[in-house]
Amino acid sequence: MTDPRYDALAYADYVHRDADVAHLATVASLLGHPVAPLRGARVLDIGCAQGQHLLALAELYPELEALGIDPSERQIDEARRRAERLGLKNLRFEAWPAERLLEAQEGAFDFVVCQGVYSWVSASVRQTLVEVLGRALARDGVAFLGFNTQPGWALGQVLRHALAQYVDPSAAPARQIATARAALGLLGQSLERTTPARAALGAELDRALGADPAYLFHEYLSPENHAFYRADVVATLRAAGLNYCCDADLSGLDDRSLLDTLDVIAMRRYHSAVVVRAHHPVGAIDPERLVAMHWVTPLALTQDITPGLVRSDSRLTFEHPDGQRITLSDVAAKALVGTLAAHRHRPLRAVDALSRAARLADLDTPTLWRQLAPAALVTRGWLRPSVEAPRWVDAVSEHPRASALARDDAATGRDVTTRDLRQLTLTPFERAVLCQLDGTRDLAALWRDLAPQALEGSCGDALNTFAQNALLIG
Ligand SMILES: C[S@@+](CC[C@H](N)C(=O)[O-])C[C@H]1O[C@@H](n2cnc3c(N)ncnc32)[C@H](O)[C@@H]1O
Repeated sequence: MTDPRYDALAYADYVHRDADVAHLATVASLLGHPVAPLRGARVLDIGCAQGQHLLALAELYPELEALGIDPSERQIDEARRRAERLGLKNLRFEAWPAERLLEAQEGAFDFVVCQGVYSWVSASVRQTLVEVLGRALARDGVAFLGFNTQPGWALGQVLRHALAQYVDPSAAPARQIATARAALGLLGQSLERTTPARAALGAELDRALGADPAYLFHEYLSPENHAFYRADVVATLRAAGLNYCCDADLSGLDDRSLLDTLDVIAMRRYHSAVVVRAHHPVGAIDPERLVAMHWVTPLALTQDITPGLVRSDSRLTFEHPDGQRITLSDVAAKALVGTLAAHRHRPLRAVDALSRAARLADLDTPTLWRQLAPAALVTRGWLRPSVEAPRWVDAVSEHPRASALARDDAATGRDVTTRDLRQLTLTPFERAVLCQLDGTRDLAALWRDLAPQALEGSCGDALNTFAQNALLIG
């Protein structure tokens, strides 16, 4: 069995930072659940498409054993080709639908990733997915389940319905995409004149128009795309002996009773559930566990941080990657988030972060710790903990080296996957530099080999960008 739509047009290559097995282990551990060590852990990716996420996990954690399945043979062929090119021996790809796992003797998995599948299949396949999760998840296993959410995704469904009037589903994907783009343009122009609809639909329309063609095709033009209220997914999982533990971004953990109301207020359109077996109760974040982890913040400084700014009652403003501005005035929070932001993308051991922040705030560490509300920083998404130490270096060495996956991404014109599972768009010159970083060249050889292209950009600047963005492993 193969999937003709994904064979006709492969899905874009995405990695999902919140579906990093180390992140899933972190979430489970923060909530007090036992978690399998990564060494020897088994990972299953259901609906892995061309395998970008699993390739990244298998390379980053060579101690894992991974299986990726997807019914689209074309996508699985590409995933296998890349695994071979990268020399990865700890993963396998099979052109199977999830249903096949009910018969296959694959045993239990410590981590299961199922991203972008639950909403995109029929009701009966969805039921099978839940059954597969219920059977395949090890006793202390942790799963990641992403799904489109009501009420926010209702606006997406309005667009899907509108596009269905224009697009012939039997046409070639490129034609369907071109027609859909033209229709979206037309809708956008008409909406200019009808303000209430523009306010409601504008962001959805811009998202669809700005989307990668494969994403537009599979998200807005596929026959199956369903959205669910979170509470209904909680109930479906529970019936299969599974617990919707929390969202992978840890949001809303401060007051779970508000979660469904917050979905309405925020018109939330997507959830990434962390799922465990029902015998693990859903707990709260244990601050003592946080202290044993590594910390990073996604927030960026918008100004130089000085002891004066931190110790006074001045406000300090940070920028979230989604463009939101966050202003802190509390001394302990300013000191900690400021310390982490100054280390952008480079995690610090919690104890080191706390002692640096304490120095900056002119407090002793226990006082700073008492004044902080670390669990609240986590649930707001300002502090990202990890049970794993970073597996990259943050300085440019004499023989700079990038991972085989990042070099392959760069060589094949893809966005480049970082070691902290983000995707970066590089300039052509940066890609050319990255491709050279197999560790065989020292800096002098790099300057020499890249000299003909160096006019386009400085090799040193490119290397510093890589060092600051988790792209160097030596
Ligand atoms: C929207 S894509 C998501 C791909 C990838 N997981 C990601 O998030 O980047 C959905 C994928 O689910 C796969 N799929 C469709 N039906 C499936 C089934 N019955 N079992 C497993 N995967 C399925 C499709 O072939 C496709 O690759």
